[in-house]
Parts: sequence; C-alpha cells; structure tokens
Amino acid sequence: MKKVLHIVASPRGSSSRTLRIADALLKKIGKQFPGATIDTLDVFAEKLPEMNITRVKGKYMLMSGQELSGDAVAAWEEIKAHIARFLAADIIVISTPMWNFGIPYRLKHYIDVVWQPGFMFKYTENGPVGLAAGRKVFVVSTRGGDYSAGTPAEPYDQITPYLKTVLGWAGITDLTFISGQPMDANTEDGREAKIKEAIARIDSLNLA
Ligand SMILES: Cc1cc2nc3c(=O)[nH]c(=O)nc-3n(C[C@H](O)[C@H](O)[C@H](O)COP(=O)(O)O)c2cc1C
Repeated sequence: MKKVLHIVASPRGSSSRTLRIADALLKKIGKQFPGATIDTLDVFAEKLPEMNITRVKGKYMLMSGQELSGDAVAAWEEIKAHIARFLAADIIVISTPMWNFGIPYRLKHYIDVVWQPGFMFKYTENGPVGLAAGRKVFVVSTRGGDYSAGTPAEPYDQITPYLKTVLGWAGITDLTFISGQPMDANTEDGREAKIKEAIARIDSLNLA
C-alpha cells in the first residue's frame, strides 16, 4: 500500500490555488493506488524544531562521523521523528507557492530540519551519496507571474533548481513539476484557465 506525504507550504487553506491543483493530483494518486494513505504535513501549522545551537552542534557531530552525544541526543528526537515521517513515504507531494522567487521560509525550515547527514545522504570516499532514492516527488507550485521555460522570467525561478538540487542530494531524481502560472498577473478567467491547464496536465500523467 502506497504511503503519500503531502507537504503543504501555503498558509492560505481553501483560498490556495496551489492546493486546488494538488487536490486533483492527490485524487489521481488515490485512484491509481487504491488504499494509499495520505499524511498531510502543513509546515505553517506544524511546530518545527528550531535549528538552534544545540541541534546544529549535533549536525556537526554527524558531519564529522561522530555519534550524537550530550544535550544533542535529546534535542535531535524531534528531528529524527521528522526524518522518519519523510522516509516513511513512497510518494511525496510538495505544494508550494512562489514567495520572493523561491519557496516560503517555513518549507526551507522543514528542509533544514530533515536534510541531515547519515539519514538523507552520506559522505563516502567517492563523494556524497543520497540515501532516500526510490521515492517519487511531485512539486505543485503556483506563481503570481509566469516563469515557464522559455519566458524572460525563467531564470528568476528559484523553486525548480533549488528543489532539484536538494532532492537530488538525497538521491531522489524521479521528479515531476506541475506549475500554475501566471496567477496574479492574469485576469480571473485567465487564472482559472491556467489552473485548469495544470489539472489537465495531472490528468494526462502516467503515475505507474
Ligand atoms: C509573501 C509572498 C511573496 C510572493 N512572491 C512572489 C514572487 O516572487 N513571484 C511571483 O510570481 N509571485 C509571488 N507571490 C504570489 C504567489 O506566488 C501567488 O499568488 C500564488 O498563486 C499563491 O499561491 P497559494 O494561493 O497557493 O497561496 C508572492 C506571494 C506572497 C504571499
């Protein structure tokens, strides 16, 4: 039975355009994989552990090949729980609006919590190796403007290259990006058409 982790990075709830598109994707996943479970992680509602001095100290212990020790052991319990929740999923859906050309700060906070050496990647003599390979990730994103491939604004899109890099670092390369754009720089009808276009793209996806 497939396990889906839906990471929600818009605080706008039922007003979110991103979540409207993501909803179509989650329905399609549900149809394709009967009995699939969906774990929803809202990064604005979730209490994410602060990456304070104690937790960062623990990260440096792991980066230098040591075990966690001292006050870092207890401080890392919440981090380990978030990592386990991520790694429990076969399919991850990241629903993110564009904020200042990139992802909202709470999603970055989540990534800073979960992306840890020894859990998501490891360093070897032959360089870094991702430890979370085999998972499928869908990134659903809406943007006020239009950053589609071939447009003058394409180079300003920091969501696509950043998530490709960070997910790739963990060994996750089966990525599908679904974007609705432009949203704000559009008429209401034009916006609706772009949302429908993104949903039509989801309908045409082969999830197998
Ligand atoms: C804090 C903030 C920053 C934003 N920055 C950008 C931006 O840099 N580029 C852009 O095209 N749209 C930007 N937008 C607009 C959103 O990307 C757009 O409205 C999106 O559809 C919102 O998604 P949602 O309805 O799922 O929350 C920003 C919106 C907010 C609230």
